Amino acid sequence: MGFDRYVSGIAEARFAIRKVFRIVDIQARELGLEPLEQQTLIQVYGAPGRPLQVRTVAERLDISPALASRMLRRLEERGFVRRRSSERDRRVIEVAITRTGHRPPHRCGRPGRGGLLPVPATATIQADGAVGHGVLCRPRPLGGGTGHPDGHRGGPPMSPDPAGALARVATNVAIVTTVADGHPHGVTANVWGEGTDPPFVLVTLRRTASTLGAVRAAGRFGACLLGAHQEEVAWRFARPEADPGQRFAGVAHHRVADMPVLDVTHAWFVCEVEGAAPFGSYEIVTGRVVDAGTGSADEPLIFHTGRFVHLAPRMERS
Ligand SMILES: Cc1cc2nc3c(=O)[nH]c(=O)nc-3n(C[C@H](O)[C@H](O)[C@H](O)COP(=O)(O)O)c2cc1C
Repeated sequence: MGFDRYVSGIAEARFAIRKVFRIVDIQARELGLEPLEQQTLIQVYGAPGRPLQVRTVAERLDISPALASRMLRRLEERGFVRRRSSERDRRVIEVAITRTGHRPPHRCGRPGRGGLLPVPATATIQADGAVGHGVLCRPRPLGGGTGHPDGHRGGPPMSPDPAGALARVATNVAIVTTVADGHPHGVTANVWGEGTDPPFVLVTLRRTASTLGAVRAAGRFGACLLGAHQEEVAWRFARPEADPGQRFAGVAHHRVADMPVLDVTHAWFVCEVEGAAPFGSYEIVTGRVVDAGTGSADEPLIFHTGRFVHLAPRMERS
């Protein structure tokens, strides 16, 4: 009897585990990831001793280092992880999650947050050996209806979620440019504009990023707002391992007041640096606009919940 109960418990537990893994695999595919890619993100995000080396990722997933390396390259091309030389030993490559890959899991009542990690799933074996299993909450696909005519959900206010709230701050996507040693230098970033007299543009640049030093040295920067179809350009200029000058290869550009300006933009600005102020791990750089114009791309590219999105056409209400 004791043995029968033990085997029944194992049968139920294995059933629950398989079910949870199936749900997690389905979620991964709904998010556009292969299950192994999502498992990789989970390890890079959550394994002890982060940042991980490529061979540690391979060990933890029980796959070959070559396969781990290929998968990490694919994830990096999509902006979910970044590979960097270790600060302790430059020959060692470490992998870290990026802010695009590092999104908290979806939670109940928060559909389409752009999270890449799995929804919390539960599988509990109770005292009597019975197995309870389920998912705390299934994500709804982006754009899924809410059932409310205005697109909002009813019910009480949701619990505090600063990361989720911040992910919902929609931003423009720009290439901030400058010149370093006479060569063009550019990075994907956000810009803020103020129609004062004279007009100002503000950018926030990571203190450790090469761009901040280059902008300071040049005393000028360009800011090219990208058009809706320029997602590839945004990824190209966000790749950490790409030399900031090489990011321009194949991207048509010209100079305005010596600053590189992409030939295709939604709008562009060239600014003289006016000031800088620390902002956490970033530095706010303000620039007085010395030249600006609109570009040939009519619609802007927008970043929201970890994804590039486009403006939806306005619906006329009758
Ligand atoms: C949509 C998007 C917006 C970004 N915004 C900023 C930003 O405002 N400031 C920043 O320093 N990095 C931003 N980044 C990250 C940089 O593009 C990325 O870290 C880049 O590799 C830094 O390159 P650098 O070290 O050559 O400056 C953004 C990336 C993306 C995809």
